[in-house]
Amino acid sequence: MKITILNGSPRPQGCTAEMIRAFTDEALKCGHTVAEFDVCRMNIKGCLACEYCHGKGAGKCVQQDDMHKIYAELADTEMLVLASPIYYHGISGQLKCAIDRFYSALYPKAPESLKYVSMFLASGDKDQYTGARFSFDGDFLGYLGLEDKGFFTCAGGRTEEVTESIREMARTL
Ligand SMILES: Cc1cc2nc3c(=O)[nH]c(=O)nc-3n(C[C@H](O)[C@H](O)[C@H](O)COP(=O)(O)O)c2cc1C
Repeated sequence: MKITILNGSPRPQGCTAEMIRAFTDEALKCGHTVAEFDVCRMNIKGCLACEYCHGKGAGKCVQQDDMHKIYAELADTEMLVLASPIYYHGISGQLKCAIDRFYSALYPKAPESLKYVSMFLASGDKDQYTGARFSFDGDFLGYLGLEDKGFFTCAGGRTEEVTESIREMARTL
């Protein structure tokens, strides 16, 4: 299947990156197609709430920035992976900007092809995921009705166990 990963970590050698690497390795081995977007290194502005997309724009965002590369991918992707460090009890600001911009492409309805979602989170301490979980459950499972492929967390840099669970999930796709 076609998989799109949004990487919300600015650290190329961090825990988020390690979880993504484990997933990508296994998914590619299993014959899936994976596109990763490093949103911290892209020019993605916040949503303006101008509603152009739901009027004259007919689904297109008025802002001309790198988000259009992600929109092109979202049009026919089957699985979305949202990966982020926890910053102040939520996902990174860079990933939040990209998700807010889903408003033109995934609201009121996701493209037909999009069926599955998973979230990878890295934090310093344990039990820091309530905010991200609320959004995952409410926005992606509840509102968009996507199928849950797993909510994976890694606290304090201990990645061994979680990367194995992520590899296992990739093998079941
Ligand atoms: C701005 C900032 C805010 C953070 N806030 C939290 C937090 O609220 N809770 C927590 O457990 N860790 C927090 N951390 C630690 C990171 O979540 C942790 O280092 C994580 O491993 C970073 O992911 P990465 O390794 O993929 O970069 C914060 C780090 C930064 C830079």
